Amino acid sequence: MNKEELLTEYEKTFGEKGQDVFFSPGRINVIGEHTDYNGGHVFPAAISLGVYGVYGPREDKKVRLFSGNVDGEIVEFDIDDTTAEKDEDRFWANYFKGMITYLREKYNGIDHGFNLYIEANLPSGSGLSSSAAIEMLMGIILKDEFNLDVDRVSLAKMGQRTENEFVGLNSGIMDQFACIMGKKDSAIFLDCNTLKYEYMPLALGDYEIIIMATNKPHTLADSAYNDRVAECGRALKKLQQKLDIKALGELDNDTFDEYSYLINDETEIKRARHAISENQRTLRATQAMKDGDLEKLGRLINASHESLHYDYEVTGKELDTLAEASWKQPGVLGARMIGGGFGGSAIAIVKKSEAENFKKNVGKIYRDTIGYDASFYDAEIVDGTKRI
Ligand code: GLA
Repeated sequence: MNKEELLTEYEKTFGEKGQDVFFSPGRINVIGEHTDYNGGHVFPAAISLGVYGVYGPREDKKVRLFSGNVDGEIVEFDIDDTTAEKDEDRFWANYFKGMITYLREKYNGIDHGFNLYIEANLPSGSGLSSSAAIEMLMGIILKDEFNLDVDRVSLAKMGQRTENEFVGLNSGIMDQFACIMGKKDSAIFLDCNTLKYEYMPLALGDYEIIIMATNKPHTLADSAYNDRVAECGRALKKLQQKLDIKALGELDNDTFDEYSYLINDETEIKRARHAISENQRTLRATQAMKDGDLEKLGRLINASHESLHYDYEVTGKELDTLAEASWKQPGVLGARMIGGGFGGSAIAIVKKSEAENFKKNVGKIYRDTIGYDASFYDAEIVDGTKRI
């Protein structure tokens, strides 16, 4: 998708010329899944699949949104309107409305409306954070166009709040942080408890990351996601009877084992065990990356999938098929599901010379097992949301 094509689409939609074009990336996550809202670590990176936006100012107070991916009408609302959309056809406007609301709450200057044409080359529901990409797109557009003195981390926090309060998903901050803070060819090692972060070059040598989308039709993943957040919250509360902690991420495996009797519930023990072991794995995996021990990094990535499968129970047949088929292929260091789970996408770290073979073989196993195709993309790691 190039700039000219996007500007043409804007003009077709709104009957006038667009002013500026922006791009907001989706993300992958090397390791550290379902750790962000548990005060643990994550290791995501922004990717070249994402969402484009063409902006044009208006003199009145209307916001008019059009998505080139949705078969629908222009969605229109007033910049003063702070109510969440309930209507299914207009629901996607919440990702914009939340950001507009929270920015206007804190900053003066957004005093007129705008038109926005958006188009994604990232399938929605792919587990690659199309929603965070949209929120961060809106954040950077408003920051740039209205000269707001807001930093990127604050925008990421507003994106998380948009999910929590406008969309109803009790998600953590990983996706928004990765989309807006992304850096070319690097992953972000982020402590979600303190928001301290470090860029680490994704030095994979002869290997590359392949993204595998399950193309599973939309499911009720959101409610299961909120269930997991609640289960971890209950486990934490019980541990706090004896332990002075604020988040599961503060515990190591041994301390958790010693105090797990306080939980005394099979499901909650499994959920907490994943949150804690995954955080520890993420620390070990980033160390392995620093040491150049890619084999170890790969094993920890596989272990992450197993923990998400058996303890967190968020994988499902499609993601298990992709991961397990990947493990059997030549030249594969590791593979696992990424994102919330129950569909969405997985990644594999594959020797470049084996990549085509890998896609063919895993693609066939997936089709034979699941009945439709998975999609494969070579992950290109890019900078965070920006004007192009
Ligand atoms: C979704 C959420 C993130 C994170 C992941 C799981 O992508 O938006 O906050 O919790 O799931 O790691």
